[in-house]
Amino acid sequence: MAKPVVFITGGGRRIGAAISSLLMESGYYVLIHVRNSVAEAQSIIDNYSKSNDGQISGDIIRADLLNDDMAKLIDLVINHPKVVEYGGLFGLINNASIYQPISFSDLTFEEFKNNFTIHVDVPFLLTKGLYDSLKAKSGSVIGIVDTSQGRAWQDLTHYTASKNALRQMMINLAGDLHPHVRVNCIAPGAIVSADWEAEHFASVLEKVPMGRSGEPKDIANAAKFLLESNHISGQPSM
Ligand SMILES: NC(=O)c1ccc[n+]([C@@H]2O[C@H](COP(=O)([O-])OP(=O)(O)OC[C@H]3O[C@@H](n4cnc5c(N)ncnc54)[C@H](OP(=O)(O)O)[C@@H]3O)[C@@H](O)[C@H]2O)c1
Repeated sequence: MAKPVVFITGGGRRIGAAISSLLMESGYYVLIHVRNSVAEAQSIIDNYSKSNDGQISGDIIRADLLNDDMAKLIDLVINHPKVVEYGGLFGLINNASIYQPISFSDLTFEEFKNNFTIHVDVPFLLTKGLYDSLKAKSGSVIGIVDTSQGRAWQDLTHYTASKNALRQMMINLAGDLHPHVRVNCIAPGAIVSADWEAEHFASVLEKVPMGRSGEPKDIANAAKFLLESNHISGQPSM
C-alpha cells in the first residue's frame, strides 16, 4: 500500500530534521525540502533505510525559497512518483525560516521583504499550488510559527511581523479551506538556539517554568499529532 506523503520545507536539519525522521519512523514517505542541507537530509533517509531492511522512505527536493521558481517546486512535488502513487499529498509543513536580529536602523526593506517571502509568500504559494493534491487525500497544512505574538522581540521586527502574518494566514485559511483541508500552527518556545544567541537563549531558559528548553522531538510529536488529528483545524499555536 502506498505510504501517505508529507512535504516539509527546511526539513534537513535541527527541528525540521526531527520532524522528517519521526514521520518516516511513523510510516510516512517524506519529501524533504532543503536549500543547503543535502547531506543532512540524505543521512536522515539513509539512517531510516539502514534500520528498516533498506526501505527508502524519503526523497530530497532542493530549492532556494528566496530565488527559485516556486511553480517548478510545486510541479516537482505534485509529479513526484510517490505523490502520484499515493494519489495526492497528506501534509504540507511550512517550517523553513530565517532568524537573524537586525537593529531597526540597519534593517533594509530588502531584508524585511525576504522575511515575508520565506515566512508568508512561500507558504501561501505552496498552499495554493498544492491545494488540489492535499484535498485529494483530505490532508492538512501546518505552519511553524513562534511565541512572539503580541510581544516586542528586540531587533526582530522583520521576523516577528512575518511570523505572525503566517499565523494569521494559516488561521484564515483554516476557515477558507475547510472541510477539505485542515490548517494548523505549532508555536515552539525555546527549542534549539541559533549560533548567535547562546547567551540570550540561556537567559530565556531562566524564565521558562520548566527550567529547560524543549527538544526538537517535542515539535515533531506535535506535527505528527496535528497531521493525524482529523478533527483539529484552525489551531493557532499548539
Ligand atoms: N529553534 C527554535 O528554538 C525555534 C523557536 C521558535 C520557533 N521556531 C520555528 O521552528 C522552525 C524550525 O526552527 P529551526 O531553528 O530548526 O529553523 P532554522 O534552522 O532557522 O531554519 C530551518 C531551515 O530553513 C531553511 N531555509 C532558510 N532560508 C532558506 C531559503 N532561502 N531557501 C530555502 N530554505 C531556506 C534552511 O534550510 P537549509 O539548511 O537546507 O539551507 C534551514 O535549515 C522555524 O520555522 C522557526 O521559526 C524555532
